[in-house]
Amino acid sequence: FLSRSGNLDPLTETYGIPFYLQYLAHWPEYFIVAEAPGGELMGYIMGKAEGSVAREEWHGHVTALSVAPEFRRLGLAAKLMELLEEISERKGGFFVDLFVRVSNQVAVNMYKQLGYSVYRTVIEYYSASNGEPDEDAYDMRKALSRDTEKKSIIPLPHPVRPEDIE
Ligand SMILES: CC(C)(COP(=O)(O)OP(=O)(O)OC[C@H]1O[C@@H](n2cnc3c(N)ncnc32)[C@H](O)[C@@H]1OP(=O)(O)O)[C@@H](O)C(=O)NCCC(=O)NCCS
Repeated sequence: FLSRSGNLDPLTETYGIPFYLQYLAHWPEYFIVAEAPGGELMGYIMGKAEGSVAREEWHGHVTALSVAPEFRRLGLAAKLMELLEEISERKGGFFVDLFVRVSNQVAVNMYKQLGYSVYRTVIEYYSASNGEPDEDAYDMRKALSRDTEKKSIIPLPHPVRPEDIE
């Protein structure tokens, strides 16, 4: 899984093994793999629940979503997102959020299709392997049923810097 997942696509962030193990240990319910009948990895999603309940910021977060090129446009990503949203609903989250490269047109459009909207832009959220700033992110959100007034998705008027997001 790890050797393949890191290379499903250049648009999928590659993390070290301790990072994945941390997710498996803390949020196993948020780690979902789509496997073909032959055992082949078709795609996966990993996420977590975080944020303050008191401040109505308790939410589900999508950390990574990737579908192998040969299994795309079959509705797999949409299904994985639906599962993550269901888990977040059950946990009483107010919304689901994710970060995506502003240049990743396919993913941005897909998330819009799935009901997400841009909440804010995070300047230079992504960095290159040499540590230099690389690209901005959209922080996209979708309100869950607990946020009856959809307050959590009202877009911020100004972009923020990575150090301003918790
Ligand atoms: C983005 C990605 C996860 C989509 O996976 P997928 O399983 O092919 O997506 P789905 O089949 O569930 O598509 C759902 C909807 O998104 C849109 N969509 C997905 N891929 C698209 C494409 N290449 N072109 C246009 N629309 C697309 C469509 O509206 C699609 O619905 P439709 O097929 O009924 O028209 C996949 O392309 C991928 O792994 N990309 C590289 C990694 C990445 O960018 N991850 C997200 C980073 S946050």
